[in-house]
Amino acid sequence: MEGSLGDGAKDKPFHTATPLLESWALSQVAGVKVFLKCENVQPSGSFKIRGIGHLVGRMARKGCSHFVCSSGGNAGISAAYAARKLGIAATIVLPEGTSPQVVRRLQGEGAEVQLHGKVWDEANLRAQELAKRDGWVNIPPFDHPLLWEGHGSLVQELKAALGTPPGAVVLAVGGGGLLAGVAAGLVEVGWQHVPIIAMETRGAHCLNAAIKAGRPVTLPGITSVAKCLGAKTVATRAFECTQEFKVLSEVVEDVEAVNATQRFLDDERMLVEPACGAALAAVYSGLLGRLQAEGHLSPSLSSVVVIVCGGNSIDSQELQALKAMVSHS
Ligand SMILES: Cc1ncc(COP(=O)(O)O)c(C=O)c1O
Repeated sequence: MEGSLGDGAKDKPFHTATPLLESWALSQVAGVKVFLKCENVQPSGSFKIRGIGHLVGRMARKGCSHFVCSSGGNAGISAAYAARKLGIAATIVLPEGTSPQVVRRLQGEGAEVQLHGKVWDEANLRAQELAKRDGWVNIPPFDHPLLWEGHGSLVQELKAALGTPPGAVVLAVGGGGLLAGVAAGLVEVGWQHVPIIAMETRGAHCLNAAIKAGRPVTLPGITSVAKCLGAKTVATRAFECTQEFKVLSEVVEDVEAVNATQRFLDDERMLVEPACGAALAAVYSGLLGRLQAEGHLSPSLSSVVVIVCGGNSIDSQELQALKAMVSHS
C-alpha cells in the first residue's frame, strides 16, 4: 500500500522550524550567551512531533490503518496530531493520573484515549497489546531509530542558524529519545564533539542510574513531579550515546525544576512543563558554572543552546499546585 496517500500528506513534515532566541535573562544568569531552541512552539507543544511525525509518516506510507501510542502526554499529542493530519485513526494510552487538559486536547485531535496503569511503563504494555490488532501500528514515544532521525532535524536548524558549533547543548532526558536524536543530528552536521548536558529530575533519573550501573537499569518507580520524564528504563541507544559522545549527566531536585519553570515564565513569558524546567535548571541552578569550574566544560564557552522541549501538561493553576507540592517535600 506504499504510496496510497496524497503527495502533500506524504512529504510535508508535521513539525515547524522553530525560533532560536538569544536570551538576555538566561545569559545574565549563566555568564555565557544562552540560546533557546523554542520547541514549545511546535504545533503539538513539544519537540516530540519531529520524531513522531517522521515515524508516523513512514508507517502511514506502509499502509497502517490505526496508530497506537503510549505516552506521558506529549508524545501522544504529537501522534494524534500527525494521525489527524493524515486522516488515520489513533488510540493514545496514558497513565491514570494524566491531566484532564491533556485528555481533552487528545480528544480534540480526534484520538481515542485509554487511561491505563500508574506510570508510563504500564500504559506501554497495554499499547503493545493493542498493536497486535490487524493494521494497527505502535508508535513508541522514545525508542525507535526513525524517531531519533526525526529529532535530528532540530540540530540541522541549529547549524543553519548558528553556523559555528555552540559550546554545549542542554536537554532533558526521559526515555532518552531526544538525547539519541540530538546525538544523531550532531554527527550529521559534523558537531559530534559538542558536549551534551543531559538533565533529569531525581525520581525520574533512569539515564543517570544507568551510567552509574554501567548498563540500563530499571528504577523501582517514578517519584518525580516531572511525569513526562517518567520512563523507568532508559533506551539502550541513549545509554550507548553516553559512551560515544561527551554526555554530562546531571540530576536536579523537583524543586529546582519547578523553580526554573517559574523563573523562565517570569524571564521569558513562556510556560513549560517541569520536564523542561529540568533543562532550564542547568542555567538557573548554576550547573553550567559548576561544570566549568570542575573542568568538565570549557571555561570560555562561545554559547550554550538550551532545548526548550515544551510540554502541554501545565497551566498557571498547575504551576501553583506544583510549587506547593515541592515546597512541602
Ligand atoms: C516536554 C518533554 N520534554 C522532554 C521529554 C523527554 O524526552 P525523551 O523521552 O525523548 O527523553 C519528554 C518526553 O515525553 C517531554 O514530553
